[in-house]
Amino acid sequence: MRLVIFGPPGVGKGTQAKRLAQRYGICHISTGDTLREVMRSGSPLAAKIRQFVDNGQLVPDEVVAEIIERRLIQPDCRKGFILDGFPRTLSQAHYLDSLLKKRRLLLDAALFLDASDETIVRRISGRRVCPLCGRSYHVEFAPPRVPGRCDDDGEPLVQRPDDEPEAVKKRLEVYREETAPLREYFENAGVLVSIDGSREPDQVEAEIVEQLEALYSPM
Ligand code: AP5
Repeated sequence: MRLVIFGPPGVGKGTQAKRLAQRYGICHISTGDTLREVMRSGSPLAAKIRQFVDNGQLVPDEVVAEIIERRLIQPDCRKGFILDGFPRTLSQAHYLDSLLKKRRLLLDAALFLDASDETIVRRISGRRVCPLCGRSYHVEFAPPRVPGRCDDDGEPLVQRPDDEPEAVKKRLEVYREETAPLREYFENAGVLVSIDGSREPDQVEAEIVEQLEALYSPM
């Protein structure tokens, strides 16, 4: 199974992508998570990437293209993949298209997850992450066992710098200008699946699974 999941910042793409990867035994490729790992590593590329990510801007195409190419050839992607946060622009979508064509692969579905701005802001403002391992929580909807501490390593949780209000404003602008047009792109490609992302995580997952199964079931 080869999937893309896209939608506005904080709508729940990462949450659902992890569940689907586990359910279908496919790999979860999150460009955002990979970029944050690079930033935590303190490698020479880290400072360059940070300038873009912390301010809510897109990192250059060649950086994300390399992440995707390297990841897709890993053994855990043999059964399929879910791309979370990529493509994010029409040029990235064309690039993905050529990458898949080269490998004679087809995309099964592009899941478009949407919710109101009010829901998105509530999810983003309540998100807390572990600065050590990157695990994500929500103060209200997915709280850690001990308030303010990571369940896995006990590290104090922090807010992502790009979850600060100014950066969120920028991310929403970038989403509307650069990523929202992908809806039409995937619709024209015949792979768009629209999902109501405003409900509880279990309900959102159930709707995705139902729609995917309908695609695969014989008429
Ligand atoms: P990225 O990490 O991809 O950021 P994003 O798209 O803005 O998405 P988020 O990670 O904020 O949210 P999400 O939709 O995954 O929601 P989540 O499941 O965490 O990218 C970050 C940055 O990297 C970009 O701004 C850019 O700079 C750069 N970048 C990445 N990809 C790039 C690319 N292709 N090209 C160029 N630059 C790129 O959920 C959010 C919160 O809500 C969590 O706390 C969660 O617990 C909670 N939650 C989730 N679902 C529900 C629900 N159903 N009900 C209640 N709470 C929920």
